[in-house]
Amino acid sequence: MPGSVDRRNFIKTTALTGVALSINNSIRAFSPGKKEKVRVGIIGAGFRSQEHIGNFCQRPDVEVVALADPQERSIHEAIAEIKKYNRPEPVVYKNGDHDYKQLLKRDDIDAVVICSPWEWHIVQAIDAMQAGKIPGVEVCGAMKLQDCWDVVNTSEKTKIPLMMIENVCYRRDVMAVLNMVRKGMFGELLHAQGGYEHDLRGVLFNDGITAYDSGVEFGPRAYSEAQWRTNHYVKRNGELYPTHGLGPVAVMLNINKGNRMMRLSSIASKTRGLHKYIVEHPKGGTEHPNAKVKFQQGDLVNTQIQCTNGETILLTHDTSLQRPYNLGFRVQGTEGIWQDFGSGGPTQGFLYFEKLMKHSHHWDNTEQWLKDHDHPLWVKYGKDAEGAGHGGMDFFVDHTFIECIKRGVEFPLDVYDLASWYSITPLSEKSIIEGGQVQDIPDFTRGKFRTKKQIFALSDEY
Ligand SMILES: NC(=O)c1ccc[n+]([C@@H]2O[C@H](COP(=O)([O-])OP(=O)(O)OC[C@H]3O[C@@H](n4cnc5c(N)ncnc54)[C@H](O)[C@@H]3O)[C@@H](O)[C@H]2O)c1
Repeated sequence: MPGSVDRRNFIKTTALTGVALSINNSIRAFSPGKKEKVRVGIIGAGFRSQEHIGNFCQRPDVEVVALADPQERSIHEAIAEIKKYNRPEPVVYKNGDHDYKQLLKRDDIDAVVICSPWEWHIVQAIDAMQAGKIPGVEVCGAMKLQDCWDVVNTSEKTKIPLMMIENVCYRRDVMAVLNMVRKGMFGELLHAQGGYEHDLRGVLFNDGITAYDSGVEFGPRAYSEAQWRTNHYVKRNGELYPTHGLGPVAVMLNINKGNRMMRLSSIASKTRGLHKYIVEHPKGGTEHPNAKVKFQQGDLVNTQIQCTNGETILLTHDTSLQRPYNLGFRVQGTEGIWQDFGSGGPTQGFLYFEKLMKHSHHWDNTEQWLKDHDHPLWVKYGKDAEGAGHGGMDFFVDHTFIECIKRGVEFPLDVYDLASWYSITPLSEKSIIEGGQVQDIPDFTRGKFRTKKQIFALSDEY
């Protein structure tokens, strides 16, 4: 595998430097290099973390040592998940928003998985690295551009690596298409599309008891994501959730590995869906206090991105209207095109390869193609992934996180990927405010992208 020696040395040497740099005593427990077992702390014990916990508890090489979350209910549910697998009860930190810092002081934790509300991701990732813990960070976009620089600078300074745990990069059809891209079947890539096109109305509002489709409350009267996510729709207008759509195509286009995103422009539609949902809901109505809320987030936000190697990317954020789920992938090259019209199932996409299909000008269903070009990782671990979240892809993202730490090798989705993907959010907000004005996307690698090699899923190991 190209660059494997460098990668192997990366965590080893960088972690050692991190030990030297840190003033936190807990860091003495950080043992760099290869490990038999990875000891994990969870920050944010809500629904998403419980999916990671389920995956970790099925692995003998992972121990979930501690949980930090200010909400009793989340802690209770996360512990119940751990008990399902007869694993030892974790130590709990639940005294407010900053108690996770006590978890970070523990000397028996190697890594943390950050599944908190968006506004905490980068703050907690930085604190984790400063405490010598390797963060795996859930998906979202940054609150501000400077945060993206801060997370890169902290990783470089502490030499603690970070993994962007973007599960859609591991979706079976996405990986099969990646495999076909790497085999050259699409020729030279020119354009890609993706997005977050998911009716979240029943997630953004609930009754404070049941998480989904149960009411029109948000904020303190609500439960789970409606407690915090909806506030972003009140105050912001941008590409709020770029990484599910961007991550998979960024890997195909070798973003930050020989290529990079150079500039973007975003526009937003008017805002209708969430207000309509509140007034039409049986528990809402025109007199409900939330019917007076003015949501800033446009129902559709489209972001065009240009890459240094000449490709274009189109991202769509579409979460406030009625619609079936679809991440809307399209990958287009000189020799082929893939369009994903459904919810990621093998039969729900279309492919066209002009030469292979004798210039028929007819789409072919993806099913057989995806079988024939299944990624080696899925061929090897498909059975193990059965039952894991989001059609199995969660198995792979957690597997990669743990395997890289155990082997002491570089993460395939790293701090530069997190920074550049997260940066789309504040840049899109600025672009929309400025009427679609083009915004430069910083080179968070400071030129290293030119020589960095792609290491994502090069084999059937992780
Ligand atoms: N990759 C995916 O497929 C996927 C799916 C769902 C959610 N997510 C992401 O995962 C994250 C969590 O989402 P969720 O659905 O679990 O939300 P959730 O609201 O169910 O859980 C978030 C938890 O974080 C806790 N929290 C709040 N402030 C905290 C703090 N300062 N320190 C520690 N914990 C804190 C909350 O009390 C809550 O229990 C979000 O970033 C979300 O976008 C990803």
